[in-house]
Amino acid sequence: MKILVTGGAGFIGGNFVLYELEKHPEDSIVCIDLLTYAGNLETLESVMSNPAFNFIKADIADRQAIYDIFESEKPDIVVNFAAESHVDRSIENPALFLTTNVMGTQVLLDACRVFGIGRFHQVSTDEVYGDLPLDRPDLFFTEETPIHASSPYSASKASADLLTLAYFRTFKVPVSISRCSNNYGPYQFPEKLIPLMIANALNDKPLPVYGTGENVRDWLYVKDHCSAIDLIIRCGKEGEIYNIGGHNERTNLEVVQTIIHELGRGRIEFVKDRAGHDLRYAIDPSKIYRELGWLPSTAFNEGIRMAIRWYLDNKAWWERIISGEC
Ligand SMILES: NC(=O)c1ccc[n+]([C@@H]2O[C@H](COP(=O)([O-])OP(=O)(O)OC[C@H]3O[C@@H](n4cnc5c(N)ncnc54)[C@H](O)[C@@H]3O)[C@@H](O)[C@H]2O)c1
Repeated sequence: MKILVTGGAGFIGGNFVLYELEKHPEDSIVCIDLLTYAGNLETLESVMSNPAFNFIKADIADRQAIYDIFESEKPDIVVNFAAESHVDRSIENPALFLTTNVMGTQVLLDACRVFGIGRFHQVSTDEVYGDLPLDRPDLFFTEETPIHASSPYSASKASADLLTLAYFRTFKVPVSISRCSNNYGPYQFPEKLIPLMIANALNDKPLPVYGTGENVRDWLYVKDHCSAIDLIIRCGKEGEIYNIGGHNERTNLEVVQTIIHELGRGRIEFVKDRAGHDLRYAIDPSKIYRELGWLPSTAFNEGIRMAIRWYLDNKAWWERIISGEC
């Protein structure tokens, strides 16, 4: 089977490429990525000479380029990770998020329709559901929770989800969608909470925490996200949405304090809250367990230690990004 992975030079897409090539050596992967500020070919260095892997630099919103790739590569499955993914940047420049996350997804859906692809999988986020109140720990997002996006980022991801479902209903494109909670682990761009805090602590810079740090996120080790997508594209049903999460809720403050504790250094600095900042995300992942038997294998306390170890052992990877070299 040939899988076309978009955004494979980014954090989760890169981890997914490495995961698939190891778990399914019988399959091949074509990775397309525009190599924006968030894409880094060093993440894929270990597989660049693997004959089962091919990298092509391209923009998912460039219809001609995408059609040419579909025509020459003839993928069986498409998994779309490519996106502008940082909420703060979407507040600065919403238009770019619409171009990549919405128009880019539409180009891929059209290509799947034209070339008769066996499955289009859209990698989405729990952020499409909006947020939950902090004083209702009994509430969780299920696949039936109405879409209620808060930021230009989550609105663009929600739009892409709606388009994906519309292409299933209208054009019978075989699609699936996964909505995952916050990921952490190796190769995450150091603008996101966990790698940013690790890098700042190691560089003796203050650790910026929005507001009072009480916002709650539901953390999942990136490899568990990869295993869930792997299962969905092989065994999941067409037209279905699957929530992915591991019941690892932590306040941002707790996460930062854990990092300081593990590293034995770091100083918190509370900064002005993000506009429209979502309060709490919490995923109910019971459908993917019930229907596909998926369970995460890494608890937060273990995963955060593994992640910190990785950033300590791979300083060159993130130091080059921070210095602007790549
Ligand atoms: N990071 C999380 O916690 C999280 C959680 C749930 C869902 N997601 C979703 O998972 C996907 C991957 O997230 P990530 O954290 O790995 O993001 P990332 O920002 O690390 O990587 C995105 C990748 O997409 C590429 N890209 C951007 N625009 C492109 C374009 N127009 N054409 C081709 N490639 C382009 C970038 O170069 C980069 O390699 C996104 O769709 C995101 O919405 C992320």
